[in-house]
Amino acid sequence: MKRKIIRLAAFIKGFLLWLRPHYFLGWLKQPLLMASNFIYLSKWISLQKKTELNDFYSPARQYAKRYQLYEYLLTQTGIAQEPTDYLEFGVAQGASIQWWTKNCTNSAWRFYGFDTFEGLPENWGLYKKGDMSAALPAMNDERVHFFKGLFQQTVPVFLSTHSMNAGRRKLIHLDADLFSSTLYVLTSLAPFLKKGDILLFDEFNVPNHEFHAFKIFCDSYYIKTQLLGAVNNYFQVALMLE
Ligand SMILES: C[S@@+](CC[C@H](N)C(=O)[O-])C[C@H]1O[C@@H](n2cnc3c(N)ncnc32)[C@H](O)[C@@H]1O
Repeated sequence: MKRKIIRLAAFIKGFLLWLRPHYFLGWLKQPLLMASNFIYLSKWISLQKKTELNDFYSPARQYAKRYQLYEYLLTQTGIAQEPTDYLEFGVAQGASIQWWTKNCTNSAWRFYGFDTFEGLPENWGLYKKGDMSAALPAMNDERVHFFKGLFQQTVPVFLSTHSMNAGRRKLIHLDADLFSSTLYVLTSLAPFLKKGDILLFDEFNVPNHEFHAFKIFCDSYYIKTQLLGAVNNYFQVALMLE
């Protein structure tokens, strides 16, 4: 019986592929993916434990609330006192990395910022490839190092020259907006992540981008996280690796 079902399923699949459904159903790809990811996101949110800083549900988004989340991480997780590697993926003009260098003066911290500095490598929603291009931020802080180029080119070089397992905590700030960039970074860093490391997302609740990348990453590497804080209805989210 099982064999018959498998043969029938294989026949139907082959037949459907032969019909070339992408010609007449292609327009459904994005909305269906969006609907599926939206449902996963809703479920993920419902599974998060209570935490002191979480504004869900709040009717209006205030982007500046992300700085409350940064402040919370600095003061409530103990990282401010620990030697920490802060890695930021998506620097642009440097607003977020400048906040961190200004507010965390621990000389044992290291700041690594990665960006093309030539803008997004792909279209993202209403933004076009090349949007957000910016000059390297001028920062008078010797703890800061920038890596210019696609993550796909700079991250392997960084990982081969930088000791990621040197007993330092990691705060990984994912602010590249795109699914591809976020997934690339998470999978590249996977071998080096440890319990207690922090993932900070800037556009987490965008279903087909950062959230989609995060979900695939957690499913593929059996990653478990604990919610530290969230603002703007999970737009900005901080998670600690378990
Ligand atoms: C939203 S901006 C970062 C904003 C910044 N963190 C802030 O808050 O001020 C996103 C940046 O990600 C960069 N980016 C996205 N994908 C990238 C990739 N694969 N390689 C390098 N940079 C990338 C873009 O160039 C863009 O500058």
